[in-house]
Amino acid sequence: MSMQRVLTVGVVGLGYWGPNLARNFEQLPGCRLGALCDLDPERLEKMRRLYPDAACYVSFNQMLEEANLDAVVVATPVHQHFPLGKAAMLAGKHVLIEKPLASNTAECEELIALAERCELTLMVGHIFVYSAAVQMIRRIIDSGDLGEIRYINSQRLSLGLFHNDINVVWDLAPHDLSMILYLLGRSPGAVNCQGHANITPGIEDVANVSLSFECGRFATIQSSWLEPRKVRQMTIVGSRQMIVYDDIEPLEKIRIHDTRIERPPHYETFGEFQYTYHYGDSFIPRLEQIEPLRQMCQHFIACSLSGAPPLSSGESGLEVVKILEACSKSLKANGGLISITETSQEHRSLSGVMVARRVNGGGNPGELHATRVV
Ligand SMILES: NC(=O)c1ccc[n+]([C@@H]2O[C@H](COP(=O)([O-])OP(=O)(O)OC[C@H]3O[C@@H](n4cnc5c(N)ncnc54)[C@H](O)[C@@H]3O)[C@@H](O)[C@H]2O)c1
Repeated sequence: MSMQRVLTVGVVGLGYWGPNLARNFEQLPGCRLGALCDLDPERLEKMRRLYPDAACYVSFNQMLEEANLDAVVVATPVHQHFPLGKAAMLAGKHVLIEKPLASNTAECEELIALAERCELTLMVGHIFVYSAAVQMIRRIIDSGDLGEIRYINSQRLSLGLFHNDINVVWDLAPHDLSMILYLLGRSPGAVNCQGHANITPGIEDVANVSLSFECGRFATIQSSWLEPRKVRQMTIVGSRQMIVYDDIEPLEKIRIHDTRIERPPHYETFGEFQYTYHYGDSFIPRLEQIEPLRQMCQHFIACSLSGAPPLSSGESGLEVVKILEACSKSLKANGGLISITETSQEHRSLSGVMVARRVNGGGNPGELHATRVV
């Protein structure tokens, strides 16, 4: 009888978000929550009571040395993503890093190169690409039912949570960006970003981002920590149909509207020119009720054990951070247009094409495993 491999995981950063990751790794099959780490002994103590079998550490390096882990999950503030992710990979651990992957593109590139060299899984926590709603929207777009995608608008607004190390764009827009890039299957060529710091000097708490794509598509993102309502909404406008995705809705998250505007192909005089407004039915597809975080954690376990490349790979983390950097430049230039530097040849060859590395679990250790990134 063959022994099934189990991934032993340690979670670092047990503030607001880390406990959700710890809960999933404790519950999922194929994995064991081996260790927990936080600089704050009180937070650690609370988690120790919930998970008595996990070893607890205030020192990250001590956890790496002593806990006998296969993988590390990083849920600390953003400036710690790179040093902790790098140290974990140098110690031979697969790594899942919360969004955004790192504080700048140079750090992302170093993490990607290290994962390649050490043949380790590097995954970024772009949680929404694992949601049933986004998976379904992607299938609808791929089926051609929406026609040509013209425009996407995404809003992520609520009261706080305020941060004093990153602005609202670095905090909230990674979610919108990762979804837009996944749905359109491409990165924008240029970005404008305007914002304002209302509460903490120098840290924008409201911002608007515009993304221009070389194929002529356009997307906008509105991010705010200063809004009385919680809004998580995206509109995808196609030439034939439109989708409204409301993530706050418990069941009816997606509404497909058979709505479009038609222009007469030929007209002789301006008097003859008329738009036709088509108002058809709306349709609400049934979605599977699975926690996206659970899907994401399960995917990380499977990729770490099999060697398959993750859907939210280091490269997709890099693409998002490139746009965030361009947003920071644009904010400094009062919303000026910033073009996004071309993805280097090396990375382009990795994203969406074939990635191969040795399978490090389950099967023959020398076997090569190649998969297409979807
Ligand atoms: N996917 C999502 O929906 C989502 C939601 C919230 C936060 N996040 C991400 O999760 C990460 C953490 O955010 P948060 O809101 O939980 O932050 P937080 O400030 O509430 O918690 C961070 C924790 O990390 C600990 N920490 C910092 N440096 C450390 C180190 N070197 N070693 C050990 N512990 C250390 C701190 O003591 C703190 O307990 C961020 O990257 C954020 O973007 C993701």
